[in-house]
Amino acid sequence: MRKPYFIAGNWKMNKTKDEAVELARQVVEAVKDGKNRYLVAPSFTNLDAVSSVVKGTNVILGAQNCSTEEAGAHTGEVSVGMLKSVGVQTVILGHSERRHIYGESDEMINKKVRLALANGLDVILCIGELLEEREAGKAEAVCEEQTRKGLKDVSAQDMARVTIAYEPVWAIGTGKTATPDDAQAIHAFVRGVLKSMFGDDVAEKTYIQYGGSMNDGNAADLLAKPDIDGGLIGGAALVAEKFSVIAHVE
Ligand code: PGA
Repeated sequence: MRKPYFIAGNWKMNKTKDEAVELARQVVEAVKDGKNRYLVAPSFTNLDAVSSVVKGTNVILGAQNCSTEEAGAHTGEVSVGMLKSVGVQTVILGHSERRHIYGESDEMINKKVRLALANGLDVILCIGELLEEREAGKAEAVCEEQTRKGLKDVSAQDMARVTIAYEPVWAIGTGKTATPDDAQAIHAFVRGVLKSMFGDDVAEKTYIQYGGSMNDGNAADLLAKPDIDGGLIGGAALVAEKFSVIAHVE
């Protein structure tokens, strides 16, 4: 594990504006003395309001996606410039729901990664295999391909602003967490991929979060593993008390 841990809440398409503000207030209060690094990622419409709540605190504002383009005729899209203008520092890219429900390709995700980095945002790049890919013995190959393609043409220097989130798709929102040993095996493998792409130093320093039904009951065991450096948390991040327990693992 790399410390302090990087504990991020992906709120997905949950919470109205008032509810998001309330949750953000609770999270800020819960983690104000915490020793880790924290992020919350509300939906686009709630970013501005949550930004006011987390400003000046130890909670970073994240977005859940961005456009591949900088501006123009792209109805329904949100640009990196717009995100920055409301205080977003980090953008989650390549989430499995973007890949598998909305058809985002590795090429699109890579374009977003490079655009976000070029515009000064940090990136959490999500990777992870489907259940059938795991059962077919392809988990490593899928994670390697998503890592290599997602980080294509990213410089070693910019990797200081990239976090990887390993989220096995079969574990997301299902209550089926990967065992700490299974998760560790993929994390170590992905670190090896980073080593071959960027060298030892970058591979050692890059944070790799685990995501997929991480909760207040299993976080400590997952985070105790040598290559698990934080969590990207969905369901449990919607309840401040649960997020707080994960946030305080040391
Ligand atoms: P989950 O979601 O914690 O609800 O499984 C994690 C994620 O998709 O980021």
